[in-house]
Amino acid sequence: MRITVLTGAGISAESGLRTFRAEDGLWEEHRLEDVATPEAYARDPALVHRFYNARRAAAAAAQPNAAHRALADLARKHDVTLVTQNVDDLHERGGAPYVIHMHGRLNRALCAACGHRWPSPAVMDVTTACPDCGSRSARPDVVWFGEMPYDLDDITEELERADLFAAIGTSGNVYPAAGFVRMARQFRAHCVELNLDRSAVSSDFQEHLTGPATEIVPGWVASL
Ligand code: APR
Ligand code: ZN
Repeated sequence: MRITVLTGAGISAESGLRTFRAEDGLWEEHRLEDVATPEAYARDPALVHRFYNARRAAAAAAQPNAAHRALADLARKHDVTLVTQNVDDLHERGGAPYVIHMHGRLNRALCAACGHRWPSPAVMDVTTACPDCGSRSARPDVVWFGEMPYDLDDITEELERADLFAAIGTSGNVYPAAGFVRMARQFRAHCVELNLDRSAVSSDFQEHLTGPATEIVPGWVASL
């Protein structure tokens, strides 16, 4: 059985990392468009660096939870492609052998001038220089609103081949990830949503498991 799993912020919530769409519509006291767009970085790179430095520190201090570990077990038992929208590394630290980070990674830096990527220092600022071209245009290697997610060709191929597609801890508000369930359905996969509540694309799934990820994911993995 081929399984494609998509995860979102909800899987890391019980590790203490906040999800994006809090009830006040703010993300760590910032509007998304003030910190997570290319325009925000162009306007106030120092603010964007401070914001991601804080998120990088929070992710480094967080520990993988039972849901991350269960998915690592699943990957050892079955033919699994694990795709995450998360920029933390909790899947890897939970033991997952291979993870597609479609929205990039906090622990990587990207040179906006030449495209070079390297392991991010713990703290980046406007003086951080690219080790390749020397330009001071270092940014976090994360995909912002208005930018193209990574590895979409590979992900589409996996959705075509999947017998089972699972979305875990994602609100279904951000495309193209929110559209993966429809693609998987078209290619005849069984689709299951594991989430705290119904997502914006819930009706596209044939099966729903509702609850906190650390409670529902291990049981679901054991049932496969
Ligand atoms: N267990 C399972 N699900 C949970 C838990 C939990 N403990 N806590 C919250 N959730 C659910 C919420 O109900 C919500 O549906 O996780 C989902 C989180 O949704 P978002 O905060 O919108 O996160 P996500 O879907 O990953 O966001 C997608 O948007 O901001 C951009 O690029 C960013 O990758 C991110 C993308
Ligand atoms: Zn460079």
